[in-house]
Amino acid sequence: MRIVVLTGAGISAESGVPTFRGKEGLWRKYDPRDLATPEAFRRDPKVVWEWYNWRREMIAKAQPSEAHRILAELERRRDLRIITQNVDGLHQRAGSKKVIELHGNIWRVRCVICRVRYYDERVPLEDLPPKCKECGGLLRPDVVWFGETLPQEELEEAYRLSSEADIFLVIGTSAQVYPAAELPFVAKRSGARVIEINPEETPVTPYADLSIRKGATEGLREVLDQL
Ligand code: OAD
Repeated sequence: MRIVVLTGAGISAESGVPTFRGKEGLWRKYDPRDLATPEAFRRDPKVVWEWYNWRREMIAKAQPSEAHRILAELERRRDLRIITQNVDGLHQRAGSKKVIELHGNIWRVRCVICRVRYYDERVPLEDLPPKCKECGGLLRPDVVWFGETLPQEELEEAYRLSSEADIFLVIGTSAQVYPAAELPFVAKRSGARVIEINPEETPVTPYADLSIRKGATEGLREVLDQL
């Protein structure tokens, strides 16, 4: 039986990493057009990097939550795959091996000139904006910004896994950002049992087979015996 899990910022909220759209959400305080678009980066790469430095610092201090750990443990025993919209790498730090990152990874940088990508986990990065170690070009965070397409291989794999799932768990996403938000529909159409864990209702709620109005850890504990 294949279990596929789609996660969003809500699972990392339990690690103390802020979400985007909630009451304390990042997009309440910051305008994504100033910080998370290719245009913003072209206009002022230093400001964008300062914001990413701040987020990297916050994430570096955070620990994977119990929910991250439960999923990592399940992966060891079951046919379970994680598709995440999160860029924080907390699933991997909890021990998950097969994580599909739809929106990139905040610990990876990419050269806008020679396109090389590599991990640079220094906190903070100094001499902003940082320069490519290969060609000296401008580096950007290797994350997906508004108006950009998702990495094709990851997206294809995510669609494939979703269509092959027997159980599809949706944890901690507001399901407002496409194409990630389409994956639970894909799973449902292909016959999966869709289980949502989120303290709030989302567009997934009406067609979920089970919707648990709780936080990620508590909700996961509740469904463990059904998996
Ligand atoms: P959002 O911030 O949009 O939604 C977070 C969801 O987590 C909300 O539905 C909350 O109700 C829920 N939540 C809050 N606390 C929770 C808890 N303890 N346990 C479980 N759920 C909880 O975050 P995403 O849906 O992940 O994109 O946002 C999707 C994308 O929008 C992000 O990947 C990011 C953002 O712009 C990019 O950066 C490209």
